[in-house]
Amino acid sequence: MKLVSGSAIVTGAGQGIGLGIASRLMRDGANVLLFGRTPEKVEAAAAELNKAAEGRTRAVPFAGDVVRVEDITRAIALATREFGLPGILVNNAGTATLRPVLEMPVEEFDQVLAINLKGPFLFTQQLAKALVAARQPGSIVNISSLNQLSVTDGLAHYCASKAALANFSKVTASELGRYNIRVNVVAPGAIRTPLAEGAGLLTGAMGREFFAHTPLGKPCGEPEDVAKVVSFLCSDLASWVTGDTLSVDGGNHIRGLHSYADTLGITRAVDPSV
Ligand SMILES: NC(=O)c1ccc[n+]([C@@H]2O[C@H](COP(=O)([O-])OP(=O)(O)OC[C@H]3O[C@@H](n4cnc5c(N)ncnc54)[C@H](OP(=O)(O)O)[C@@H]3O)[C@@H](O)[C@H]2O)c1
Repeated sequence: MKLVSGSAIVTGAGQGIGLGIASRLMRDGANVLLFGRTPEKVEAAAAELNKAAEGRTRAVPFAGDVVRVEDITRAIALATREFGLPGILVNNAGTATLRPVLEMPVEEFDQVLAINLKGPFLFTQQLAKALVAARQPGSIVNISSLNQLSVTDGLAHYCASKAALANFSKVTASELGRYNIRVNVVAPGAIRTPLAEGAGLLTGAMGREFFAHTPLGKPCGEPEDVAKVVSFLCSDLASWVTGDTLSVDGGNHIRGLHSYADTLGITRAVDPSV
């Protein structure tokens, strides 16, 4: 297997799935710019990955926000100076809160849409312009979620952002195909990360729900399960694959989703007085 480029950018690479993807891409032969919000997290991640790589490939940390164009252009410039223009971009940074629509502040809705949807748009636009100008091929992978297809109470903003990201990816795949830039989506189910642990997805009632809805018989996957599929999509093995979504969820999407209704105190019964 050969990656389409020896230079990559992964957003949200300081922990969780992004860190797993960066690690995998490095083991498969790419130098990686780790783009993340908290400087200490990306610096610690780069130190860990560089130690493991023993000089074969390199990680460079970059602290920035995916909704700030100036951070994105500076990151692309740094990666280009260090490793050459990145032909691989993984838009992984994402966020969520758990709140019913009736109680959701506008600012919270806006923030989730900005990070999960506008960020990938800005990064894709900036990098694709540079790739087209340089006549260089590329592979862009957008990390969506099981929630791009099935809905979960309490995640209206998140579900909307991930569904929109999937359609955004199809349009960019269609527009960028003639430049030999492929765009695909990876849709994880529950994966063991700080986000999933913080949201209580892996333990208690929610952990049992996921377990019951996952044919492969484990309540969750690991970051490496997602990373392997991302690396495949960024390689010559996927040279004829674009505009598609690969679910990485142990088959969770086949059985439909759990609901957080109990956690949120949302009643399922129809109110006869309405
Ligand atoms: N874990 C799951 O079960 C699961 C399931 C389906 C989909 N996903 C998706 O997978 C992706 C990664 O999830 P995860 O579980 O690994 O999450 P995570 O542990 O919370 O890590 C997300 C990373 O993104 C960074 N980030 C957030 N907002 C950012 C911004 N505006 N600019 C730059 N970086 C930003 C965070 O940095 P800071 O910590 O510095 O803020 C963090 O390092 C997300 O898109 C998520 O929606 C996860």
